[in-house]
Amino acid sequence: MIGHAIIRVEETASTNDLAREFAGRVDADGIVVLAGRQTNGKGRLGRSWFSPPDTGIYMSVIIKRRLNYPYPFLICPAVSLAVAETIEYFSDLEPRIKWPNDIVVNSKKIGGILVERNNDVLIAGIGINLNVDPCVFPDEIKDKATSLMAESGRNWDKEEFLKKLSLALEDVLSTEEEEILDRLIARSFTLGKIVKVSDGKNVFQGKAEGFESDGSLLLRTADGKMINIKSGEIG
Ligand code: BTN
Repeated sequence: MIGHAIIRVEETASTNDLAREFAGRVDADGIVVLAGRQTNGKGRLGRSWFSPPDTGIYMSVIIKRRLNYPYPFLICPAVSLAVAETIEYFSDLEPRIKWPNDIVVNSKKIGGILVERNNDVLIAGIGINLNVDPCVFPDEIKDKATSLMAESGRNWDKEEFLKKLSLALEDVLSTEEEEILDRLIARSFTLGKIVKVSDGKNVFQGKAEGFESDGSLLLRTADGKMINIKSGEIG
């Protein structure tokens, strides 16, 4: 079960790095590492993750089980889905998933997922701006980021959220990929839009038309070609 053991620390550099230290335990699958703040929170693509004390959720989940998905890449959107469904459970907000792993509310980012692999172990890092006051966001993210508190106008109970999120994670990890894809499509921020996507080497522009079963994005370019992008970043 996700969260059968929760390792809580007041401060750590990155919960993903700390979680790796527990990956060898016999009961490693489902262990959650939770920090009050991070001094070196990591985002995707070498970015940092703004992690002010107490108001955010900074957690990493060790996943060591056989997944229902033949494609490990799907884990990242699946974890985003669990976060989005948890937000929906507690509010009238309509969280959307910006491919591949951003959780957005009212077009602004409230959370992100960083999945790292260590041999047969996946570490799914989850960062959520729960009760973060948007005034404290650094300049480089303040126009793009928001928090659940800011969008809902109320404080969120962290413990309650964590309990429900653990159940939602357990659910997405034991659900077949076709259903995960359907649930992702229903909450996609990306599908149907004209987007620019960088895969690290090239930038592609086109209409986001669908997802492959491995979670990759299908982009229709202006010349009518369909491109399949495994991983990347939408500008
Ligand atoms: C992103 O959107 O770029 C991914 C952000 C992931 C942030 C979380 S916070 C908990 C875990 N520990 C880290 O260092 N990063 C992830």
